[in-house]
Amino acid sequence: MAVKIVAGNWKMNLNRGEAQALVSEITGMLSDEVTHPVKVILFPANIYIGAIVQLTSSDHRIAIGAQNCSNKESGAFTGEVSAAMLKSIGCHYVLIGHSERRAYFGETNTLLSEKIDLAIKHLLHPVYCIGELLEDRNNKKHFDVIQNQLTEGIFHLDATAFEKCIIAYEPVWAIGTGLTASAEQAQEMHAYIRQLIEKKYGGIIAENTTILYGGSCNDQNAKELFGLKDVDGGLIGGASLKSRSFVNIIKSLP
Ligand code: 13P
Repeated sequence: MAVKIVAGNWKMNLNRGEAQALVSEITGMLSDEVTHPVKVILFPANIYIGAIVQLTSSDHRIAIGAQNCSNKESGAFTGEVSAAMLKSIGCHYVLIGHSERRAYFGETNTLLSEKIDLAIKHLLHPVYCIGELLEDRNNKKHFDVIQNQLTEGIFHLDATAFEKCIIAYEPVWAIGTGLTASAEQAQEMHAYIRQLIEKKYGGIIAENTTILYGGSCNDQNAKELFGLKDVDGGLIGGASLKSRSFVNIIKSLP
C-alpha cells in the first residue's frame, strides 16, 4: 500500500510572521482534531525552512520540504541552494519539476533528472511533478507527455532509489485555475502512471509508490479525489495557505 500524504506547496507566498502563524494554526488544529496517523509535508520558501522545522519538531506527522534544489553539487552558482544544504537544515523532501519551474525557468526533463540524482544522494525524498498542458490534452497527447516526463526525468533510477520518490500528477491546466481534473480524468491518469511504474519496476514497487494529485484541490473536492483507487493524496497550492481549508483537506484522507 502506498503511504497517503497531503502536502502544501506555499510557492512564493507569506512573510515570516504569516508563515509562522500558519504553521502554529495547522499544528494546533491537527492536534485538536486529527487523532489518526496522517502524513503531512509542508513546502515553505527556503528561507523559512529552518524555523519551520523547529516549530513542527514536536509533531512527527509533519515533515518539511523545499520547493526546488540545484542540479549542481556545490560551488560558484550564485543564488542556488543545494540538496546537501537543504538536508543539513532538517529538510526531508524536495519538489522537483513543478510545472512553474518547467515553464518559467526552462527546466527540462534532463536537468530535472540531475536534480533527482543529487536529492537522492543527499537523502532527500524527491517529489517529482509531472503534468500535461491543456493543449496536450486537447491534442490527445497527454499520455505521451506523462510517459516522456517519467522516462526522461526519473526512470533512469534503479529500483532502490525510485522507492525513495513520490510522484505528483499536476495537470498544468488545473493549477491555480479553479479547474480541477474530474474524478475520471484523475483516476485514468494515476492508473496510467502506476502502470508505467509497474512496467519499469514491477508490481510491488508500483503498488507502494505514492502518487499525489495536484491542481485546484480544495476542501470541497478533496474527499472525492482522495477516494479514487490510484490517488494517494494531494499536493495543494492555494488552499494550503489557509489553515482551515488545509486541515479540512488533511481530514479528507481516507
Ligand atoms: P493550486 O492548488 O493552487 O491549483 O496549485 C497546485 C500546485 O501547483 C501545487 O504544487
